[in-house]
Amino acid sequence: MIVAESLVKTYEGAKAPVLKGVSFQVERGEVYTLLGPSGCGKTTSLRAVAGLESADSGRILLDGRVVFSSKERINVPPDKRNIGMVFQSYAIWPHMSVSKNVAYPLQGRGLSNDEIRKRVSRALEVVGLLELAERPSPNLSGGQQQRVALARAIVAETSVLLLDEPLSNLDAKLREQMRRDLAALQRQLGHSTIYVTHDQEEALALSHRVALMRDGEIVEEGKPMAMYQHPQHPFTAAFLGAANFAPCVIVGQARPGDMIEADTPFGRFSGVARLGEDREAKLFFRPHMARLEDFDAPPRVNRGVAEIAEYSFLGEVLEIMARKGDSAIRIRTAPGPRAAAGARIAFGVDPEHSAIFLPRA
Ligand SMILES: Nc1ncnc2c1ncn2[C@@H]1O[C@H](COP(=O)(O)OP(=O)(O)OP(=O)(O)O)[C@@H](O)[C@H]1O
Ligand SMILES: [Mg+2]
Repeated sequence: MIVAESLVKTYEGAKAPVLKGVSFQVERGEVYTLLGPSGCGKTTSLRAVAGLESADSGRILLDGRVVFSSKERINVPPDKRNIGMVFQSYAIWPHMSVSKNVAYPLQGRGLSNDEIRKRVSRALEVVGLLELAERPSPNLSGGQQQRVALARAIVAETSVLLLDEPLSNLDAKLREQMRRDLAALQRQLGHSTIYVTHDQEEALALSHRVALMRDGEIVEEGKPMAMYQHPQHPFTAAFLGAANFAPCVIVGQARPGDMIEADTPFGRFSGVARLGEDREAKLFFRPHMARLEDFDAPPRVNRGVAEIAEYSFLGEVLEIMARKGDSAIRIRTAPGPRAAAGARIAFGVDPEHSAIFLPRA
């Protein structure tokens, strides 16, 4: 289990902290993903857990052992933390063969050569590289290098695995394959894993839980599907996939958690009220949750009208950009016949698939 408590970190010479009190807990066997835009503090958080970076304050426990505590002045060095790690740049030694690279974390542990050979073979087998064991590292494809880095991270059979963008340098197809392999590996070995990525699809596909970070803080944490479908925070709504935000005026009183109604330029919609960040209230829904409806049907709540502005064919879906006055929304439907630009359409969104972000107090 990994516990991080209130990690604060300001790099020397920097004005603002890059970690502003980051806390999380990763259970045994869990893949916990730190997701967020570039520079939000993902790698710094991971390096703090690994002991490669010292936080200014906070506490870190690995399997119940305090490995870092600013108060107690504890800071266990990285090689004594018993972790496996894949770095953002995989950091494979070019002058060593595949098996020497993988054996590296086992050096100086007093293991017999025979035991080292056994463990290296086991790790290489898990990542499917056994037949390349004696190949010099420079003669590997990107995907193979990535696997070497993974094998090296698991060879010491630690209970904690830290992965920093481990698939970032792969092409789309290989990434998908490795994503599945990683998930299988995780099930097999049962690590407590922190996975770092800025790719929301990867995060949703791989994680038991996701922590979305922004500017050195965790904005929201939860299970992938819940966070995607029912984001509590507008940043989550915007970051985790395509999103519509329509300006609106709330009808009556509204407290977070209530089902409320709001008037948008498209019509009146209901949804769950959530705390927002802007001066203006916003109706949120994902483009594929809206469906086209008969324009001549009688008006009702949760039904909007707009004019088609343009189409984008995205392969699996057709995206319709529709406008009303200055406001625009996107609707994703199955590709099919298109009406002319300027045609009027009606669309419906179920209240359970929308949220209304309240104006900032
Ligand atoms: N050694 C360092 N010295 C000073 N500033 C640093 C150092 N390392 C990182 N930073 C800054 O700290 C912030 C967080 O960096 P970090 O590497 O944790 O981000 P990240 O979320 O991993 O981003 P990315 O997705 O680009 O890898 C950034 O603004 C970065 O410029
Ligand atoms: Mg990083």
